[in-house]
Amino acid sequence: MLAIAFAAVALLVPSTTGASVPKHARSQHESTQPWSVSNFDSLITFGDSYTDESRLGWFINHNGTAPPAGSLSPENFVTASGGRTWPRYVIQYTSSSGNGNGSEWMPQTTLYDYAVSGAMVLINQRTVPLRPGIRTPRLPSRPDRSARELISPEPFFTPSLTATSAVYALWIGTNDLGVWAFLTDSQVPGKVLSDYTSCVYEVFNALYASGGRMFVLMNTAPLHLAPLYANASLHGVGANQYWPAKPANLTQIAETMHEYTSTVNAVLEYRTLFENLVAHRYPGARFALFDMYSLISDIYDAPSNYLNGTGVLDGGESVWGYENDCDLNQTVCVKRDNGTNSDAFLWFDELHPR
Ligand SMILES: *[C@@H]1O[C@H](CO)[C@@H](O)[C@H](O)[C@H]1NC(C)=O
Ligand SMILES: *[C@@H]1O[C@H](CO)[C@@H](O)[C@H](O)[C@H]1NC(C)=O
Ligand SMILES: *[C@@H]1O[C@H](CO)[C@@H](O)[C@H](O)[C@H]1NC(C)=O
Ligand SMILES: *[C@@H]1O[C@H](CO)[C@@H](O)[C@H](O)[C@H]1NC(C)=O
Ligand SMILES: *[C@@H]1O[C@H](CO)[C@@H](O)[C@H](O)[C@H]1NC(C)=O
Ligand SMILES: *[C@@H]1O[C@H](CO)[C@@H](O)[C@H](O)[C@H]1NC(C)=O
Ligand SMILES: *[C@@H]1O[C@H](CO)[C@@H](O)[C@H](O)[C@H]1NC(C)=O
Repeated sequence: MLAIAFAAVALLVPSTTGASVPKHARSQHESTQPWSVSNFDSLITFGDSYTDESRLGWFINHNGTAPPAGSLSPENFVTASGGRTWPRYVIQYTSSSGNGNGSEWMPQTTLYDYAVSGAMVLINQRTVPLRPGIRTPRLPSRPDRSARELISPEPFFTPSLTATSAVYALWIGTNDLGVWAFLTDSQVPGKVLSDYTSCVYEVFNALYASGGRMFVLMNTAPLHLAPLYANASLHGVGANQYWPAKPANLTQIAETMHEYTSTVNAVLEYRTLFENLVAHRYPGARFALFDMYSLISDIYDAPSNYLNGTGVLDGGESVWGYENDCDLNQTVCVKRDNGTNSDAFLWFDELHPR
């Protein structure tokens, strides 16, 4: 269960003075430190379907209008990643009882999840709509309404947000780099990968301008391992719900995706340091770079260290297969083992980690 692995460390990354760029493997609980869970009242997340708990659903059900800023949405188990989202696990595993025991825990932090399935950080980059009638969702990469209101003192947030009591996490790029965007050369003409990485810091600009100071940047996943983008030896899939007219040469797709994710992650690592330590772009802020690429790669290489379903073997279907198989037009979906062995899979479907 990827989400649990994440939850265990997301808010516990060690800090140094100024910017810190810890690797997930080095995380330690240091209760007197700025990243201590006990400092935080609120977790505010931005991103795409990897993080979305219910926001796209709200747009669909409300004629494309956003929920009021600061709205609390209930926990949702029917998400793009097949169940609970990682931010909700963070809330559970940072709760006062913290034993992961269903109804036994008392949340200590409040989740505000602004992630929207299909979102890209480069606004309007996707020239092909996700689904008919649904506009490409937006992130506050410009200081738009939701970003400005994030830090507004009332009545939206209870308890109200302060510079150090709210942690902001951003995980974005899967759609920017993928099909219908960079991977298929269908990004807005002229946009390049460095526009994507710059846009990530524009999101932090908006949040910083609103008063946020504690930031977690999650780098891009090893998408060349996802069934949607993997090569033939790694069991990449052909035409599917997310890419009905997928070309036959899976090696080309996987190699290109591997180049994209590795390259932008290298930029994110060095640029996060640069912006903080050299350019002093975010005075007083703290950054944690969460290495999702390494975490998911580790799970892929040694799934039995992470996954507790039945039949989990190194090199096995747990990491190259996926649980939920839909037809091309998403009308019929079949779950492996009728959904009774979810904990055995790294991927919920062709694209989404569980
Ligand atoms: C939905 O939005 C469209 C376009 O703005 C508008 O014409 C329509 O009346 C709205 N429908 C409802 C039920 O609000
Ligand atoms: C979880 O809750 C059950 C039922 O209340 C209890 O029997 C069990 O000991 C709890 N487990 C932990 C780890 O607290
Ligand atoms: C698929 O990728 C793996 C890992 O990079 C590589 O070892 C293998 O040769 C590739 N297979 C094909 C068919 O491209
Ligand atoms: C698939 O793409 C790779 C990388 O671009 C190329 O080397 C290879 O020749 C292609 N294979 C076929 C069958 O076209
Ligand atoms: C795997 O571990 C999680 C967390 O402890 C637990 O909730 C779940 O029931 C376990 N799954 C299986 C199949 O044992
Ligand atoms: C779904 O796609 C299949 C082909 O993949 C087609 O036969 C079927 O008619 C489609 N169903 C709908 C409801 O569009
Ligand atoms: C899944 O459920 C169906 C319908 O209840 C049943 O016929 C089938 O045997 C089940 N398959 C597995 C693998 O449990």
